[in-house]
Amino acid sequence: MWSADAPAKAILFGEHAVLYGAPAIAIAIDLRASVSLEKSEKWLLNGDAFNPLLNPHLGHLISEFGDLDNPLSISIDSTIPMAAGLGSSAALSVASGMALSASRGHNSVTSIESLARAAHRAEASAQGGRASPTDTSVSTLGGAVIVSSSRIKSLEHRWAIDLESPDGSKHWDVHSLSIPSSLSRIPIVIGFTGISSSTKKMVEMVANNMQTSSFRLAMEKVSEISQKSIDILSTGNPEAIGDAMTRCHSLLQKIGVSSTELDNLIDAVLPFSFGAKLTGAGGGGCIIALSNEPQACAEEINKCGGIPYITSFAEIGVKISS
Ligand code: PMV
Repeated sequence: MWSADAPAKAILFGEHAVLYGAPAIAIAIDLRASVSLEKSEKWLLNGDAFNPLLNPHLGHLISEFGDLDNPLSISIDSTIPMAAGLGSSAALSVASGMALSASRGHNSVTSIESLARAAHRAEASAQGGRASPTDTSVSTLGGAVIVSSSRIKSLEHRWAIDLESPDGSKHWDVHSLSIPSSLSRIPIVIGFTGISSSTKKMVEMVANNMQTSSFRLAMEKVSEISQKSIDILSTGNPEAIGDAMTRCHSLLQKIGVSSTELDNLIDAVLPFSFGAKLTGAGGGGCIIALSNEPQACAEEINKCGGIPYITSFAEIGVKISS
């Protein structure tokens, strides 16, 4: 039996804007997807026949890392809500890539970068060619990751990724950022609206909206906040970060990716938080709040009909499970 697990992610700054040249800053959180593999007569997923059309990410990772002549029974166990903007498919992709790699006797540590690249290719093909390497990089590396269109000299550079997308050639540099412990110790509250959202549809909608100058202006301001927040994060000042998150949410509303349910959750948690915003593609999915009163936030989320998750910063990325 071979098993690997990988963390979910939450985007602190730069969702959508990362597809238009801005940096995205994302953190791994301690919700995890675990993939276990056992030898089998045929390819199975949680006991049923595996259908790559229904599970394109997994199908892609099997085609890159699996041995098609030696079928496996795949079991997935995940605490990450799906289609909620928390990178469940990325976590599943990197965990399955590592488990598949292990099943073939490969040294998983030396293949970390190829794992992140393969998982990104899977995301990009599932998202109609519009996918940044943010989710897959965070799930692979853990900690905090900054994905930008050029190298940031002050940060640890991990790898560069290029993609031909429907909007032209894209280039991203992936960096790790070390977060001061004054910040990484603060609980992260996630509020899931219970409404799933399609990242592919949201990125397509934003691509269409970008034809309009008012949307482009709001996107430029999201990019500015994202740029400035790299310095704010290194100071570890939760008030300043929370304030930037809340301002970012107002701009994401203008880009058209928030919803009544997301806005209601934000209003409910703000009195108990340093700041809050939607996280991920939006349209549904989740909000993220930085708060020293996580229980109060969780109660407010429940009162609004949402599902709270009190989580924390996860330092560890993908790993072989014992
Ligand atoms: O909702 P998620 O977890 O798929 O995050 C998407 C983030 C976007 O910036 C909207 C898309 C991307 O590929 O970066």
